[in-house]
Amino acid sequence: MGRVLWVTGAGSGMGRAVARSAVAAGWTVVLSGRRADALHETATSAGGTCRELPLDVRDDDAVRAARDRVVDEFGRIDGLVLAAGRNTPRRGWDDQEIATFHDVVAVNLGAVVTVLDATLPDLRASSGVAVVVSSYAGWSFHPSAGVAYSASKTALGSVVRTLNATEAGNGVRACHLCPGDVATDFLDQRPTVPDAAARERMLTPDDIARTVQFVLDSPTHVRIDELVVSPVAQR
Ligand SMILES: NC(=O)c1ccc[n+]([C@@H]2O[C@H](COP(=O)([O-])OP(=O)(O)OC[C@H]3O[C@@H](n4cnc5c(N)ncnc54)[C@H](OP(=O)(O)O)[C@@H]3O)[C@@H](O)[C@H]2O)c1
Repeated sequence: MGRVLWVTGAGSGMGRAVARSAVAAGWTVVLSGRRADALHETATSAGGTCRELPLDVRDDDAVRAARDRVVDEFGRIDGLVLAAGRNTPRRGWDDQEIATFHDVVAVNLGAVVTVLDATLPDLRASSGVAVVVSSYAGWSFHPSAGVAYSASKTALGSVVRTLNATEAGNGVRACHLCPGDVATDFLDQRPTVPDAAARERMLTPDDIARTVQFVLDSPTHVRIDELVVSPVAQR
């Protein structure tokens, strides 16, 4: 068994592409997301050693139970790719719903912290690496991303920096990954959904997977604090 990677949001988009690339690079990959059928499709297309572990990342108990299952079965966690995320079309001050605001923050920020917190002893033991999938909007102010999305993704920069600042002595490394536009189903949540021509100009999930793989496979003395990856046409 190779190193063990836990990917959230593994049933689609970037998470699926990362899972495939990590399997090809020899990692054992644990796949999480809510849709069991989507995770199964990822596992089937990735080949190699995958474990499907469906869960809702907002459920703290489910996250802790999943961490225990991974460690019981594989004995270690060497890497995390935290790609589960959401937005909403009604995202501005003029049309947001406050319950949705809280849910976006719970998925994009709260759940990232929950998974990191649950796996910190494992990351310490393995000199592990966590790739926190944030956003261009978490790196540079982008009002069209919405109130909840901008706030939650921007906060991930602080999550990564506090983790790196306090856990460096334990060998834990985290990367604040800030992708620009990527052609995935995520775009269907925009108030105006981009057409095929616009999607052609965007990054692909495989572009992100290649970047993530570089971070995952960097030697344990290398920390890549932040990466911004955008299509040439990014605004
Ligand atoms: N596409 C872009 O342009 C773009 C740009 C910058 C950053 N991002 C970020 O990149 C990440 C991946 O997005 P993507 O573009 O690959 O879109 P995606 O295909 O829609 O992926 C989002 C994933 O999050 C999972 N998810 C959502 N809520 C969840 C929950 N409560 N519990 C568990 N899993 C949950 C979804 O799976 P289930 O529905 O099965 O749970 C889905 O697989 C997100 O964090 C997004 O904010 C996207």
